[in-house]
Amino acid sequence: MNILVTGGAGYIGSITCVQLIEAGHRPVILDSLVNAKAAVLGRIAQVSGIQPSFMEGDVRNKALLVQVLHDHKIDAVIHFAGLKAVGESVDHPLRYYDNNVQGTLVLIDAMNQVGVKTLVFSSSATVYAPSHDMPLHEASVKGASSPYGRSKWMVEEILADVVASDPSWSMTALRYFNPVGAHPSGLMGEDPQGVPNNLMPFIAQLAVGQRSVLRVFGNDYETPDGTGVRDYIHVMDLADGHLAALQHAHGRAGHHVFNLGSGQGHSVLEMLATFAQACGKSLLHEFAPRRSGDLAAFWADASLAEKVLGWRVRRSLQAMCEDTWRWQSQNPKGYTS
Ligand code: NAD
Ligand code: UFG
Repeated sequence: MNILVTGGAGYIGSITCVQLIEAGHRPVILDSLVNAKAAVLGRIAQVSGIQPSFMEGDVRNKALLVQVLHDHKIDAVIHFAGLKAVGESVDHPLRYYDNNVQGTLVLIDAMNQVGVKTLVFSSSATVYAPSHDMPLHEASVKGASSPYGRSKWMVEEILADVVASDPSWSMTALRYFNPVGAHPSGLMGEDPQGVPNNLMPFIAQLAVGQRSVLRVFGNDYETPDGTGVRDYIHVMDLADGHLAALQHAHGRAGHHVFNLGSGQGHSVLEMLATFAQACGKSLLHEFAPRRSGDLAAFWADASLAEKVLGWRVRRSLQAMCEDTWRWQSQNPKGYTS
């Protein structure tokens, strides 16, 4: 299939492009490069042997989308493009609603005009309400706690409404849990700007000496070792989940929602110890107060994706850390190096 990949120069999108190429599809990337570097395109080519077509542009540009959908005879769209920093979304909510919600509306409008009716959308576990009732399954209570999370939930509801109004659409929302890891080649991975907010990129920068100590936010949670527990998913498994979702969605109209997670929780200290083993260094940490807005623990019930898509995670926490270490140690400055 010819697949338009919006946000395909980003962390998850670029690695998904490699997996699409390896499965015989032709990805076409549209990305504004607001949070990515053009150097990733050469890496996709280096890893997969094929450099996908790339358009630098914004998903809110309908004329451009119509042209790309038409000219490349696109069969389906995977929509990664969006802003994803929770804290920034609190300070700049309109920027998030405009980019994430309006961007999707324009995309759907353009797809409708050209007659492309299959969309796979990057949603997030952040759409769920805080709960002690684990694991989270697709029908668990919703209640995002940031403009970012609400933008994802709004889009999910829009997708459902569009399918209800026109059953020829195939709309799939994939709720990612905590994506980490890198391509096993060490050539592609996460390249955050500034000080990373997320645990894994912070630990990776600690391991290469760019950070001095990991601040562990809270050691008094009701978890086995007192630190926060999350469902980390290897980005390669996540990319494979998109292929499975695409295969399921194409030619099958309707509205589909799947959790993509491992179904298992791991604590901050467990993650740190596994990374220390992978890089062969001891990594300094200190306990700090809980981070505002953090939950003690959440993980996915990923059984629906296994049942319907035939997909489940295959890569361990050890592989997530080893692959991240390979990427970080070979590219300490990310794609600029
Ligand atoms: P990323 O920032 O690396 O990738 C997003 C890409 O979209 C970037 O390359 C950026 O330049 C591009 N982009 C942003 N706005 C755009 C616009 N208006 N037009 C065109 N391109 C635009 O992020 P990622 O981690 O690869 O995440 C991909 C998607 O998955 C996002 O929608 C994100 O919200 C979602 N998601 C990510 C996580 C995570 O922890 N990484 C978790 C759940 C959901
Ligand atoms: N943590 C630390 N120190 C750090 C960074 C994180 O102790 O320097 C802890 C957090 O307190 C949490 C765990 O590591 O217990 C994971 O934190 P992340 O920031 O990596 O991940 P979150 O689960 O908090 O949030 C992520 C994304 C959100 C998304 C959510 C659910 O950042 O965008 O997963 O998908 F909404």
